[in-house]
Amino acid sequence: LAEISSDYGQINAINISHRGASGHAPEHTLQAYELGNAMNGDYIEIDLQMTKDGELIALHDETIDRTTERKGLVKNLTLKEIKKLDAGSWFNDAFPEKMSTEYLGLQIPTLREVLDRFGPDSKFFIETKSPEVYPGMEEKLINILNEYNLIGAHHTFGNVVVQSFSVESLRKVHEIDKSIPLVQLLSYYAPAVITDTEVSKIKEYAVGVGLHYTAVSPGYIKKVTDSGLMVFPYTVNEKEDMNMLLDWGVTGMFTNYPDRLNEVIQSR
Ligand code: G3P
Ligand code: CA
Repeated sequence: LAEISSDYGQINAINISHRGASGHAPEHTLQAYELGNAMNGDYIEIDLQMTKDGELIALHDETIDRTTERKGLVKNLTLKEIKKLDAGSWFNDAFPEKMSTEYLGLQIPTLREVLDRFGPDSKFFIETKSPEVYPGMEEKLINILNEYNLIGAHHTFGNVVVQSFSVESLRKVHEIDKSIPLVQLLSYYAPAVITDTEVSKIKEYAVGVGLHYTAVSPGYIKKVTDSGLMVFPYTVNEKEDMNMLLDWGVTGMFTNYPDRLNEVIQSR
C-alpha cells in the first residue's frame, strides 16, 4: 500500500470492487469477485459477518433477508444453514436486464473460500461489520490471514487492508498485528468536516479514511491527504462523479462498476 500510496493520484487511483463487481453480478459471490478482477479492480472489497458456529462469511447485512430466499440473523445460523441459501437469485429478480442462469443458487462464500480462490493473486479491502455483535471476529480474521500468508513474514504489504466504522475493532486488529494497514470508515450526515485533532488521532493507527462520496469536498480531501492519510470515497458508480473525485485528489474509490472506473482512469 505504501508503494501504491506514494504514487497515487489521478492516473494511479485505486479501484476497489465494492462487494465485487456488484453492479454486474450478485454482491459478495465468487462470481462478483471474479468479475471485479477481470474488470481491472485493484482490490476486492469484502464485508464480514460471523455465523453462529464462528465462521467468517462474506456478506454485507447482519441478516440474510435481502440477498437470500430466507430471513434471519446470521449470528443465529450455522455455516451449514448458511450454505443452503441461494445468494444469487435475488439479483435476477431485482435486475432482470442483468439476469443470468449462472447466478441461480450461488452460495454465500466463507472468507476461506474467497482466499482459496483468489488469495495469492488478489488484494483485499476487508471490513469488520458489526464487530460488537461478533466478539472475536478480529482474532479469527487475523488467524485466517496468517494461515494464507496474506499478513506476517511472507506477505506483500498492502495486499490486505482492514477497514471498519468501529475504532475499537481497528484497534483490536492492531493489538494483534500492528503491521496491517487500516482504513477508518467515517459516517457524515452533512458535508464532511474534520478537525486537526481528529486527523491526528486517526493517523495514530490508520493509513486512510473512507466516507460516503456525497459528503466529500475538495477542502476535506486536501486537508486529509496533506496530512498523509489516504481518502477512499464510497460508493461511486457514475463516471461524472468518478472524474470529479479524481480531480479533487482522492486516493481511490469503492465502486460497483470497476469497469467504469477503469475506463475513467484510462481516459485521463
Ligand atoms: O466499506 C466501504 C463501504 O462499503 C461502506 O459501506 O455499507 O457498503 O459496507 P457499506
Ligand atoms: Ca463495506
